[in-house]
Amino acid sequence: MKKWIIANWKCNVEANEAKQLAKACNNIKSDNCEVGIAAPNIYLSELAKENANVHFGVQTISHLGEGAFTGEVSVDLVKSAGANFAIVGHSERREIFNENDELIRHKVEACLNGNLMPVLCVGESLSVRENKQHLPLMYAQIRSVFEGLKLNSANDIVVAYEPVWAIGTGKIPTLQEIEEVHLYIQNLLEELHPNLGKNIAILYGGSVKPNNASDIFKTRGVSGALVGGASLKADSFSKIIAAI
Ligand code: PGA
Repeated sequence: MKKWIIANWKCNVEANEAKQLAKACNNIKSDNCEVGIAAPNIYLSELAKENANVHFGVQTISHLGEGAFTGEVSVDLVKSAGANFAIVGHSERREIFNENDELIRHKVEACLNGNLMPVLCVGESLSVRENKQHLPLMYAQIRSVFEGLKLNSANDIVVAYEPVWAIGTGKIPTLQEIEEVHLYIQNLLEELHPNLGKNIAILYGGSVKPNNASDIFKTRGVSGALVGGASLKADSFSKIIAAI
């Protein structure tokens, strides 16, 4: 199974800084994982051309093809600009932009049909966690996308478990809690896709920092990380990559 460490720059980093940060990330060598950057789309083409050691991707993707869809950017367009993955269903998209499981499924299918690797985000809010409903929610979020999904290889898709309450807060679940959810998702993927499911990479996301990365990466069921805040500085991002 391929391991991944993916930077999610979100709506941050101005043009000049993006060039420098991408260049610094391009110089980080790792034999243990693939490194990806989900940069703002506007920089994609230039950054992808200049930094061949890093995979570039987008933070959201249109489920529609090319056509009269003002503001949307399709799978083919981002691929032509150098992207080879797309984050799909990040909690900020679910919450702020009302993306639901059905739309997220369409987006994942559009990616797979166009050979763009989706990084599917799932995760519970604090109230769901406090009510101990996080596993049933994982069941619903994973099933709605993976049931009957056509996959050719386990490397076609990556899952990221991101508890919403851990994103940007500095709080992380205990390692036991992370392990519980990762193994639960892994078993569910195996049930839904008996041949491939077990080998689909499941990343952890939510306040991954240089000081907690190594413990998180040692946790069973964890195959890398989706990193927000700590990916905005080359120094902290490289320390996280070194920890895997
Ligand atoms: P964070 O963000 O690392 O800043 O918590 C993670 C994410 O939103 O993917």
